[in-house]
Formats: sequence, C-alpha cells, structure tokens
Amino acid sequence: MESYRLQDPVLENDWHAVYLASELQDSPIGVTLLGERVAIYRTKKGVHACRDLCIHRGTMLSRGWLEDDILVCPYHGWKYDTTGQCVCIPAQPKGENISARARTEMYGCVEKYGFIWVCIGDPAAELPHLEEFDNPEFRPLPCGPYKVSAAATRVIENFTDFAHLMFVHRNLLGHPDYAELPDIKVVKEKDRIYIENIPIFQPVAHSGSDKKEGTTYVYRKEVYRPLSARLSKTDPANGQTLWIMLSVQPVTAEECVVFMVVSRNYGFDVPDENFVHFQNMVFDQDARIIETQKPELLPLDLQVELNHKVDIFSVAYRRWLNELGVVVGTV
Ligand code: FES
Ligand SMILES: [Fe+2]
Repeated sequence: MESYRLQDPVLENDWHAVYLASELQDSPIGVTLLGERVAIYRTKKGVHACRDLCIHRGTMLSRGWLEDDILVCPYHGWKYDTTGQCVCIPAQPKGENISARARTEMYGCVEKYGFIWVCIGDPAAELPHLEEFDNPEFRPLPCGPYKVSAAATRVIENFTDFAHLMFVHRNLLGHPDYAELPDIKVVKEKDRIYIENIPIFQPVAHSGSDKKEGTTYVYRKEVYRPLSARLSKTDPANGQTLWIMLSVQPVTAEECVVFMVVSRNYGFDVPDENFVHFQNMVFDQDARIIETQKPELLPLDLQVELNHKVDIFSVAYRRWLNELGVVVGTV
C-alpha cells in the first residue's frame, strides 16, 4: 500500500515521544510521525502503535474503538489484534479464513517518562535511560505538549542556544546587561554532544528556590539524539538543580510537537502548576521566535547563515546531523 512517510532512515529508526501517557486511556488516538499516520492504544498488555490505516478501505483505525483489547475499524468493523493481524471480518460468514494480508503494520511503542514513545522503523537502540527523571530525589513533571509550526530541528537548535536567554526570556532567564558569554567548549561523543559549566545570570531565582534575588546558575546542555536533548541548571551554592528534557515529534518536515519533562530536586512544597506555568510561558516565548525563522529547514551548510563563535554548540549540532544523515527538517 502507498506510503506517505517522509524518508529519513535515521529518524524512522529512532524513538519519538508522541503523546502524554496519562491521556492515553480507553480509546485509540491518532498521531502523525514523519508524515505517517500512527494509531496508539492501550490494552491490558501495555501500549501499542500501528499504522493508522485499515487495509480494507484506508480508514483511520484511530477513529475506531477497542473491544476486549482488539482494535475495531469504524467503517466495516474489521478487528485487529495487537500483532496487527485482522481476526474478524463481520461481513464474512463465520469459519471462513481471513487472508494473512489483512493486517496492519505494528510499530515499536513504549511508555516512559510520562510519554508514549513510538518508533516506526527498526529501533536502532533502546530508549536512553535518563537517571534524573527516574530518581526519587527528583520530581519529574511532564509539560506541554506544545505544537509548533516549525521544523523540529529548529526547536532543538533553540534549546542549545544561550545567547537568546537575555532577550527572548529577558528578566526571566537572563538579562541584557549580562549577555556576554564565556568561551564554550563542545564535547562530542559517539552518540551525543554536550557543553557544561556555563554560568548564566538570572535576575529572579527559580520558583521554589531558597533565594529570591538574582542568581547565577550553571548550565549543562546535551543533545543525545537528533531530536532529543536535555539540560540541567544548578545553583552551585546549594545544589538545587532543575533538569529539562525535550523530545520533539517531527509531524512533518515543518511542523512538530514538543514534549518536555522538568525534574527538580527542590521546592517539593511548591505546586507543580507553578513549574508548568513557567515552562508554558518560556516555551511560548521561544515558539514565537522559532516560527518566524527562514529558511524553515535547518541549513546544514554552515555558509548559509552567519555563525558566530558563541554559536559553537549549534554549529556542532548541525555538523552532527549532517554526519548522521538526518534529512527531515534540514536543508
Ligand atoms: S475500511 Fe476498515 S473495515 Fe472497511
Ligand atoms: Fe528559549
């Protein structure tokens, strides 16, 4: 059957967060990943994902329903089990064989860090283990998801950027009088790039922090998959640390959905809503900028935009995408 999938062997074989786990309940849900429609659903066995297309007449299976853990197509009621095989065609006399071709393709699907993750290819690796989102000393909290009319790569690049904190997030995460950045050294490993020990002055301390006045936080930022990144910011005076993990779902080349978890080891008495509200506000500020960028696709040719030495992490990201051969969201 015809494929609508965007061709990108690297991203196809990667895991992508596509839904909030807490919101996947009794009904199947339709999402789009790399142009491919995907149905996700929950049974007693766990979570499942399949091509969101009934082999009979191309209907979206996610518009159907679940009956005893079997996915039912809403058009003529064909039923698909969790291996993707059609096990019942209501219009066919009982006892007649069902063609082995009557099936839908199943995809990798796992539930972790509060999200449903899907891989529509052959997973090149397991979902990375992120200790800080699994550690009882920290409190993880899903935020978003945020729909953005921009390439997922542009969102990750924004996440790697420090020089915008003082302008886009003026008075929240930085201040224009403290815009100068130190020399930054990027560390490249086989499966990640990162930078660490970057001090950034923030005019008002974190929600729930011991301090209320301005504080210099020390950042570490890491991109560990083409569309997944995390950062930590620590107050060196007391060890209070906030982690943020980002996984960006490439819906198409120029549309994405951002899944985010923040995880903190302080301020447990502060309502979670305060942290969610803060992230909503900060992310909205980023999205307003990212959605205006042209070209929409991230240029991997480093001559296309003017890179400054403070953009060293973003340049490393572009180089890494180029090396990996990421196609979708790049030009
Ligand atoms: S289109 Fe799905 S059962 Fe006919
Ligand atoms: Fe930002």
